[in-house]
Amino acid sequence: MASPFAAISFSFFLFSFLSFAQSSTIGVTYISRLLEIQNRERAPPSVQIAAAYGVLHRLLPSHSSSFEFGIVSKEQCGGDSCFIISNHPSSSGHGAPEILITGVTGVEIMAGLHWYLKYWCGSHISWDKTGGAQLLSVPDSGSFPRVQEAGILIQRPIPWNYYQNAVTSSYTSAWWDWKRWEKEIDWMALQGINLPLAFTGQEAIWQKVFRNFNISHVDLKDFFGGPAFLAWSRMGNLHGWGGPLPQSWLDQQLLLQKKILARMYELGMTPVLPAFSGNVPAALKYIFPSAKITRLGNWFTVGGNPRWCCTYLLDATDPLFIEIGKAFIQQQLKEYGRTGHIYNCDTFDENTPPVDDPEYISSLGAAIFKGMQSGDSNAIWLMQGWLFSYDPFWRPPQMKALLHSVPMGRLVVLDLFAEVKPIWITSEQFYGVPYIWCMLHNFAGNIEMYGILDAVASGPVEARTSENSTMVGVGMSMEGIEQNPVVYDLMSEMAFQHNKVDVKVWIALYSTRRYGKSVPEIQDAWNILYQTVYNCTDGSYVSAPT
Ligand SMILES: *[C@@H]1O[C@H](CO)[C@@H](O)[C@H](O)[C@H]1NC(C)=O
Ligand SMILES: *[C@@H]1O[C@H](CO)[C@@H](O)[C@H](O)[C@H]1NC(C)=O
Ligand SMILES: *[C@@H]1O[C@H](CO)[C@@H](O)[C@H](O)[C@H]1NC(C)=O
Repeated sequence: MASPFAAISFSFFLFSFLSFAQSSTIGVTYISRLLEIQNRERAPPSVQIAAAYGVLHRLLPSHSSSFEFGIVSKEQCGGDSCFIISNHPSSSGHGAPEILITGVTGVEIMAGLHWYLKYWCGSHISWDKTGGAQLLSVPDSGSFPRVQEAGILIQRPIPWNYYQNAVTSSYTSAWWDWKRWEKEIDWMALQGINLPLAFTGQEAIWQKVFRNFNISHVDLKDFFGGPAFLAWSRMGNLHGWGGPLPQSWLDQQLLLQKKILARMYELGMTPVLPAFSGNVPAALKYIFPSAKITRLGNWFTVGGNPRWCCTYLLDATDPLFIEIGKAFIQQQLKEYGRTGHIYNCDTFDENTPPVDDPEYISSLGAAIFKGMQSGDSNAIWLMQGWLFSYDPFWRPPQMKALLHSVPMGRLVVLDLFAEVKPIWITSEQFYGVPYIWCMLHNFAGNIEMYGILDAVASGPVEARTSENSTMVGVGMSMEGIEQNPVVYDLMSEMAFQHNKVDVKVWIALYSTRRYGKSVPEIQDAWNILYQTVYNCTDGSYVSAPT
């Protein structure tokens, strides 16, 4: 079967052999123990395969019988996670499976399916709001393009592909129902995302935790923000604004979270759960009068009104901090029945500690981690590195104190804005601490044509292959989604690309995939866009310090 993409598929075939030459990063060895635990605890292969078929049925129901899926071990991949695309051995005409896709988890199977649809069938998959999926170029069942006889094996150069930002819930998904979430999780799987943030429903958990600390539902009315403002009340930037939350909302969000987590686990993902950052309701002060509780400063309060600002922060060195931190992890374990052992906590995001003594900072970091660890002995702390990129408080001694306050390998930092302001370069690879190279790309859900494709196509490869690299993943940490699909298509691919991508070549194929056929005028237009509006690093965040 002649495929218009045969030339492209050949180059990927060569590349898949080259990938064996690459070895894993130093950072991976620090966290290899956790990766082994996660492997052991993953859903059984039959569950992951069924979940993968579920995605296929929703995406391409007419071609469901054309693919067969299977799970393989890392050993069969040459040591790292991979997917393998091959011609089905029993491929014989209409109705029989034609293409066999295997992967280490359901996510790798889906990433393999996406790869095949992109590079053999010329498809393009994006959010509904950015045009949805272009699948018209997929041939009829029975005439699928065949791959090379030996098959195509694509390894992940780094174990993790992270997704979301602590504020995405408020900029994009505040009102999503299960149907929309299901679609997003399908999209994540197709992009190969295996480390998504899972923040939905945490207020219902907090309600239960705080009840055990004698804080009533009424006390919480002024603590949680309204549904669209939860990102900021979670981080202690404001409280009560847009609230109070009715019990029906709390209950329904918890149910939604349980569905989200179940699906993520079925696909073999590791959802990242929230952890206690010190943000507490005002009532805690009266119930525990001797607790060390400070009041944060004004973070852009609504209408300049102090009513919504200046939340209360429990000092991490107070023994109550570890108690609450532990109770929060345990309550999540009780509700969800399991955990992937990775917890996000951003105590200092846009809130600086009261003193800059490195020893004090180190004690804060150690206590935050202790809270997580006493609830889950395998806990790993995932922290946004945003604070290091904008806040002059974090000079090398302060930064080092925080990063080294936790045993090496138990803290992973998100280099949040690495496509424009990579911190790994100026911090000697986060002073040896494992990190994830993230593309921030979007601020505040603002919609504009924007995104520096060259930095996305080369930055993660430069970081991973740099001397003494501690990079353990790539990620997308945009504040709002459903915009600029070209940028997300390229960035997702970087989780599987071992070498820098030639954007000029890539974008020509992109336009063909997006519109379902090759139109020279459209290719020219995309080339112009690539060299002009998409070659800009300051559009989204004009006040970014450079
Ligand atoms: C909550 O209040 C009850 C009754 O006053 C008291 O016995 C209990 O110790 C309190 N719990 C905490 C965690 O302070
Ligand atoms: C890499 O690590 C080695 C051994 O610790 C050290 O000697 C060398 O200077 C490091 N290289 C860079 C670029 O930091
Ligand atoms: C992007 O802009 C930089 C600086 O002006 C320039 O050096 C580079 O060639 C441009 N890249 C593209 C793809 O046009």
